Order: sequence, then C-alpha cells, then structure tokens
Amino acid sequence: MKPIQEAARHIHRADTVVALTGAGASADSGIPTFRGKDGLWNKYDPRELATPEAFARDPVKVWKWYLWRRKKIAEAQPNPCHTTLAWMEREGILDAVVTQNVDGLHQRAGSRHVIELHGNIWTDECTSCDYERTNDPEAGEGLEYPELPPKCPECGAPLRPGVVWFGEPLPPDALLRAQELARECDVMLVIGTSGEVRPAADLPILAKSHGATVIEINPSETALSPIADVRIPQRAAPAMEELRKALEEA
Ligand code: OAD
Repeated sequence: MKPIQEAARHIHRADTVVALTGAGASADSGIPTFRGKDGLWNKYDPRELATPEAFARDPVKVWKWYLWRRKKIAEAQPNPCHTTLAWMEREGILDAVVTQNVDGLHQRAGSRHVIELHGNIWTDECTSCDYERTNDPEAGEGLEYPELPPKCPECGAPLRPGVVWFGEPLPPDALLRAQELARECDVMLVIGTSGEVRPAADLPILAKSHGATVIEINPSETALSPIADVRIPQRAAPAMEELRKALEEA
C-alpha cells in the first residue's frame, strides 16, 4: 500500500486526529524555513534577531527584520497543506492544528482550532504592561510604524513582536493544551518540521508513547523519522492534496 493510502486508512479509523506543523508547511507558500540550505538561520544569526538580549541591545534591527518577514508573509497565500487541514477540520476529520509557525496561514486558510506554540508574528505586545493587539495583514496592518520600536498606546513602553524567542518559555496554556492533545490523539500528522526544537519536538514522542500512530510528511528525514509509523517523503502541498483525494475516496 502507498504511504498516502496507508495514512488515509489510519486517519479514517481514528477518533482523534491532530496535526503538528512546522516551517515546511508554509514552504510551498514561499515562506523560508529556518534550517537547511535556504533556511533563515543559515543567512541570519538567531542570537542577533530572535532573543530577548538581541531586542534589548538593538530593538530597531530586530523590528526591521520582523517587518521584513511580515511583508513576505502578507504577500504569501495559504497552500494546499493549509487548505486541506482546514477542510479536514470542517469535515470533522481533524481535531486541531498545533503549529510552531507564527505566520497565521492556518487561520487564513480557515482552520479554527489552531494552537500557536511560538506565538503570532502579527501580534504587537507591550514589553511593560499587558497591552497586546493582533494586526490584520489582509487590512494592511502591522507593516509599518511611524517610529521603531513602536510605542505602547497605553503606557508608552516599546512594543515587541508576539513571538517566542530563544531562551523564552512557550505560552503555558498553548503548551498544556498541545500536550493534552498529544496524549489523547489516535493519529498525529507531523508536517514540515525538523523536530529539532523542543518542547514542540517532544509532542510526537508523547503521542506515540500514548499509543498514537505518527505520520510524517517531509521530503527529508528528520529527528522524528525514526518514530514515524508512516513516512510520506514529499513536499507538504502535493502530499496533502493527495491525502485529501485518498480521504474523499476512502
Ligand atoms: P525547520 O526549518 O527547522 O525545519 C523545516 C522542515 O521542513 C525541514 O525538516 C524540511 O525538510 C522541511 N521542509 C522543507 N520544505 C518542505 C516542504 N515543501 N514541505 C514539507 N516539508 C518541508 O523548521 P521548524 O521545524 O518549524 O522557532 O523549526 C522549529 C522552530 O525553530 C521554529 O518554530 C522557529 C525556529 O527557530 C522559533 O522561532 C521559536
């Protein structure tokens, strides 16, 4: 049996199905991944752009990099990986998407139950008070500011992008919910993640240890490949298009 058909069979039989997505899920929308040949961390030093220390040292540089990424994301469209996951949720086949991505493309594709482990690039968060606001990229918001770093409208302190930086904890509610889903699910669909960053990378291991079938969609072998029950060695967009057809036929 082809891996896609095998995956569809497992999904069909399952009560609870959860997807864990990483940068590879958005790669087919033209958004660069982090690791690998064309990855962002190959061109840019995360210590200078994605740590609280970097922001304290040079908030303008950090903001300019995030505004550049916001612009790239605003120009991108959800791809068949995002739209198939949204379709699966509407059909009652998929319970939730747990994502490491900060681009909001799952929501733009129509997914409702999205757990963002690493925050959302469109959110502006105050570094001092609890002000936060999520910009709407479709309305052209959050792409430029009269000054950098932008200031909190409530207390005047600098705003920061609402993403998790290296050395920072994950949002506790999101992580707890993701761990709960990993323990409950019968199938975890792991799409486009290198499995190098914890604690997100522990979720498929947790799911597997509670009896779930792990299906990996990734053109390359990853740190999680050894625990995958089914491996689909393809790009996310064509693989998810095929999976949709297989689910419709099953
Ligand atoms: P990575 O860049 O580490 O890994 C991307 C994965 O996607 C790799 O395994 C690629 O083989 C795979 N890939 C590339 N193109 C693909 C495609 N078209 N379809 C499917 N898969 C494809 O990205 P993440 O695993 O998401 O964290 O990285 C995890 C975290 O590290 C990110 O959330 C980010 C980063 O530092 C923070 O910013 C906190």
